[in-house]
Amino acid sequence: MVRRTISELFSGMVLAEDVRTPGGRFLMPRGTVLDTGHLKSLTAWNLDAVVVLGETAPGPAELEPPVAATAGPAGTVGTNVLELATASVRARFACFKPDSPAWAALTRLALDREVRKRTAAGDAGAEEPWEDRSAPPGEAPAVVPPLTLESLLRDEPKLVSPPEVYLRINEVLRDPTSTVDDAADSIKHDPSLAAKLLRLVNSSYYGRTMRAMKGRFPAKVDSLSRAVLVVGARQLSTLALGVSVLPLFQDIPPKWVNMHLFWEHSVGCAVAAQAIAAATGKANPETAFVAGLLHDFGRILVFKQATPHIGAAMRRAEAETEPLYLAERAVMGFDHAVLAGHLLQKWQFPVNLEKMVRCHHDPGDPIYTDEAAVIHLADVVATAMAWGGSGNRRTPALDDDAWQALGLTGDSLAALVPVMEDRLAETMRSFFPDHQGPP
Ligand SMILES: [Fe+2]
Ligand SMILES: [Fe+2]
Repeated sequence: MVRRTISELFSGMVLAEDVRTPGGRFLMPRGTVLDTGHLKSLTAWNLDAVVVLGETAPGPAELEPPVAATAGPAGTVGTNVLELATASVRARFACFKPDSPAWAALTRLALDREVRKRTAAGDAGAEEPWEDRSAPPGEAPAVVPPLTLESLLRDEPKLVSPPEVYLRINEVLRDPTSTVDDAADSIKHDPSLAAKLLRLVNSSYYGRTMRAMKGRFPAKVDSLSRAVLVVGARQLSTLALGVSVLPLFQDIPPKWVNMHLFWEHSVGCAVAAQAIAAATGKANPETAFVAGLLHDFGRILVFKQATPHIGAAMRRAEAETEPLYLAERAVMGFDHAVLAGHLLQKWQFPVNLEKMVRCHHDPGDPIYTDEAAVIHLADVVATAMAWGGSGNRRTPALDDDAWQALGLTGDSLAALVPVMEDRLAETMRSFFPDHQGPP
């Protein structure tokens, strides 16, 4: 719990104590999830400060179940919701160092979102127990045979060569003399790819660019050549490169992870990476977006081709309370990030993009620290906020060097997260028009 001045409050925060007017009149009960109406009312009463939940959290003790708010009128949080939300966030942060500079900001935002999500769901939303799905119930899991990167890639015929449209786009990217028309031409023969790109370019992120260049572009970008002018030829080709390999995501076996959740985690990491890159200047925002989108791509391959291995890794991650990438290393000798880097190298992806994916769990390579750090932090944020999931239940520890390289503070990261969350909902809708945004 912490005292916050009224100007520091935002929607979604939860009151930890009853609020009364300066004259002592009862105004709002503890447990109220603040919305814009509450904020206006608190401002109108000219109060100095109120006490809210989840605001400071220097150590795990601060994530103890907060003040017991009794089930009250609409807009208040019941004890059960608070306890379950707190337990869920505590489990998610079990591997995250409490002395990390991002701990306070991320645990507060994660707890606020968890409370909002569970409140909007209309019930406490009990945690789904982890289930070992590597063998039918009662049967012993399969023995884990030795595995190599090459054997994994060899057994996946679809991945031997990338989609054809990708090859055309890559040619444009690699040729310094490519023109705007070359970029548009490479994409226009794939109508589904072109449509996805236009929806992406029409999202609010690029909408701001269009407004800034008022008069030069219509409200909506309806052709690839206009999209190239708004985003830039190289940037649009980079976005196209990422989007062109996304059909391979459809093959995720539901046995391991829900495809929609996997997408949401990938898009969450993409929008977070784009925002971090734009805020810090440490990477090109479009390249960061695509690297975020593809960062856990290697896990799809593992889910499909290394079933006993990923089953053993998931069991180990549960038993040892560790992030799944560490368990993958223990079981397979390498993790999904290295596997994806290997694949992207085979496909001759731009080297920096490949390194951003390859090093997202190991951003310490001095040559690539800055760019890999962007994806590393983006993955930490997406996991901490539970934006979808790729099979991993624990937020990875934040790498100190990566955090230093980015030069952010807990407050500046906290200010970026709501922007990322808005973009996540919008970008998910550009891929899945029926997507419901987060509460
Ligand atoms: Fe990962
Ligand atoms: Fe991830």
